[in-house]
Amino acid sequence: MVKICCIGAGYVGGPTMAVIALKCPSIEVAVVDISVSRITAWNSDQLPIYEPGLDEVVKQCRGKNLFFSTDVEKHIAEADIIFVSVNTPTKTRGLGAGKAADLTYWESAARMIADVSKSNKIVVEKSTVPVKTAEAIEKILTHNSKGINYQILSNPEFLAEGTAIEDLFKPDRVLIGGRETPDGQKAIKALKDVYAHWVPEERIICTNLWSAELSKLAANAFLAQRISSVNAMSALCEATGADVSEVSHAVGKDTRIGHKFLNASVGFGGSCFQKDILNLVYICECNGLPEVANYWKQVIKVNDYQKNRFVNRVVSSMFNTVSGKKIAIFGFAFKKDTGDTRETPAIDVCKGLLGDKALLSIYDPQVTEDQIQRDLSMNKFEWDHPVHLQPMSPTTMKQVSVVWDPYEAAKDSHGLCILTEWDEFKTLDYQRIYDNMPKPAFVFDGRNIVNSQKLREIGFIVYSIGKPLDSWLKDMPAVA
Ligand code: UDX
Ligand code: UDX
Ligand code: ADP
Repeated sequence: MVKICCIGAGYVGGPTMAVIALKCPSIEVAVVDISVSRITAWNSDQLPIYEPGLDEVVKQCRGKNLFFSTDVEKHIAEADIIFVSVNTPTKTRGLGAGKAADLTYWESAARMIADVSKSNKIVVEKSTVPVKTAEAIEKILTHNSKGINYQILSNPEFLAEGTAIEDLFKPDRVLIGGRETPDGQKAIKALKDVYAHWVPEERIICTNLWSAELSKLAANAFLAQRISSVNAMSALCEATGADVSEVSHAVGKDTRIGHKFLNASVGFGGSCFQKDILNLVYICECNGLPEVANYWKQVIKVNDYQKNRFVNRVVSSMFNTVSGKKIAIFGFAFKKDTGDTRETPAIDVCKGLLGDKALLSIYDPQVTEDQIQRDLSMNKFEWDHPVHLQPMSPTTMKQVSVVWDPYEAAKDSHGLCILTEWDEFKTLDYQRIYDNMPKPAFVFDGRNIVNSQKLREIGFIVYSIGKPLDSWLKDMPAVA
């Protein structure tokens, strides 16, 4: 029986290994993590991450050929294939701070593999890492090899949160990069055989190590770039009276462009896009390519601009002040169908409004109060360095309340900001909400999901990203 061990039971490692276990009954999969609470949760009925369909997959395999454990050493020692799926935060200090990836967790995982291995291993990079990390890992392993043969592969994961199980069941492609030596090719074949249990052969792409590593950064950068492109257009649409949805539709019909990932929004979030682009920028700078670095930097600048623009629109619409005014925040997760708040645009929008002394009442169906308070107390990039966590300042505590009911959040608020596209926000009783708000009552739809015409008929003043402006908003221009 082939044995797989995955180091890191997070958003990537957990779902990916659960699906491998489901699709390959002949393979034993152990997912290990240094976090006891995470592993306890994976072994309970309340999984540590919310992901549609994940519960059923885990229930079917857990205890049969899928195990979650904190005994990292034992499972590494026993495995034939080791996936490394630990976190790679952005460095907060030292060389490359704010841009480069912090490979501390990676290095410690590699050293642990070198320490405990007694047989040949295939080591698979699963988490996104800077190009040439595989080389560094290879060096750590071979310099401590004790005669063991290590083959390093890069097998980046392309799943998106909220659709992880669907993406894993039917991936557009599986990418495997390895050395061009006979041993390297043998290792690629071994990993290919795992995926071949359910992925058609033509969807499994094999490349050299560096191409695989760079493809992951490139794919995320291209996706983020599309969003920044459409968001940049949204600002121009508001200025000219064009409608960004109509523009996106027309542009996306060109088969060379395609219709996906062209939804204007308050900005992109998530643990990958910004981090991977910053990483790409850093790699370009280190390789003496400032023009290329600046090109990609702009994608992040436009994203920051979009979030600022939204805050400014809210403040300017309300007579240039939100001080002491209650504002409801609908949605805090970085997208629907996940409880993940890493790099969510809601953090910057809320901080912007808090900076203007607004009182926020926040509702999200999947995010806990504790998480929201932690997010609003953190500085940039601290989210994956939990040790630096600051308690929320008492003034901020007074300004923020987290509630479990959207109607309660909206009651007595001057405006609603929709920051996550949860389906339930489309079908709320907006008449009831309107009746319990001071007038004029505003809706700022950062995801373009509500029926703005209907809301206007009720009496709301509605702002939708990139759509023709209500006369009220035209008279109160926002400056970004
Ligand atoms: C373009 C648009 O495609 C067309 O829809 C519009 O109506 C007019 O502008 P055109 O300029 O005739 O058409 O040719 P196109 O095939 O788009 O190529 C434009 C340039 O991009 C060429 O120099 C081409 O060599 C280059 N190109 C195209 C690349 O360098 N790489 C590519 O992948 C595609
Ligand atoms: C992304 C990539 O899609 C995935 O392939 C990679 O493995 C990890 O990073 P994820 O961050 O989970 O996945 O979600 P994604 O669906 O890509 O959304 C990222 C952000 O972009 C979200 O905040 C989303 O709301 C936003 N977005 C997406 C838009 O604003 N407009 C769009 O059209 C699409
Ligand atoms: P991702 O979104 O890439 O899956 P996460 O932060 O969700 O990232 O998960 C990474 C996991 O890796 C965390 O649960 C963390 O505790 C774990 N981890 C980090 N370093 C090690 C290590 N050396 N050994 C085992 N687990 C580790």
